Amino acid sequence: MREAEKPIGVFDSGVGGISTLAAMTRELPEEDFLYYGDTRNAPYGTKTTEEVLACVRQVVERLMQQGIKALAIACNTATGAAAAALRAELQIPVIGMEPALKPAEEAWQGGSILVMATPLTLKQEKFLNLMDRFGAHAVPMPCPGLMELVEREDSAGAKAYLEKTFGEWDMNRVDAVVLGCTHYVFLKNMIRAMIPEKTLITDGNAGTARQLRRVLADRGLLREGSAGSVRMETSGDPEKWMPVMERLYRKGLEIR
Ligand code: DGL
Repeated sequence: MREAEKPIGVFDSGVGGISTLAAMTRELPEEDFLYYGDTRNAPYGTKTTEEVLACVRQVVERLMQQGIKALAIACNTATGAAAAALRAELQIPVIGMEPALKPAEEAWQGGSILVMATPLTLKQEKFLNLMDRFGAHAVPMPCPGLMELVEREDSAGAKAYLEKTFGEWDMNRVDAVVLGCTHYVFLKNMIRAMIPEKTLITDGNAGTARQLRRVLADRGLLREGSAGSVRMETSGDPEKWMPVMERLYRKGLEIR
């Protein structure tokens, strides 16, 4: 098979990266995507870097066996833990993501910027470097337990969690909220309704999708000419998870 015809592998610890996948299929409708949710090993964000790296290696092995032309890490936590190692080991391009702090800082108007992410993302060197460059007004906000509520599609639980979290801040003095975990993007509308209208919400999905396009174009790997496809797999029980994943993919396509 011609290299450009091969699918793009996309993965996350669970269903969160489906929000990124949706942004990618919008950006690149002629590509074939193979999404893998490592649900059995979720969450990644409360593990150690070594533990996440071990999980990621298994996922990547599975995706590589299926002949992917590029790997997109639809997970901030796994990018920090594994992107550098994967880039050194794999022959195919590896696209990662990071909390969208830069656009939030660019919109700074004198208030704070809250960076919501997993505990592990916020501890990683990659994030500390990002803070050095763009974090002068940013406050890291670890959200352990929040991804689990998204996995369970527990809206009431997520709402209570967020009300408590934002309740600790004077949100009128917050310029931006960064959704630094792909799971939280599914809560964007809920968050929008809870915080002042003027407060910006940023996430890395559209930027990562554009970066994927650039990388593929640079290497002559863009697939063109006919509609692409999406296939999803999980390390969890497919009977339980496939309907959830399909539902969230449809929801993801509606998030702007
Ligand atoms: N969706 C992931 C991220 O973007 C991590 C969630 C988790 O496994 O803790 O960081």
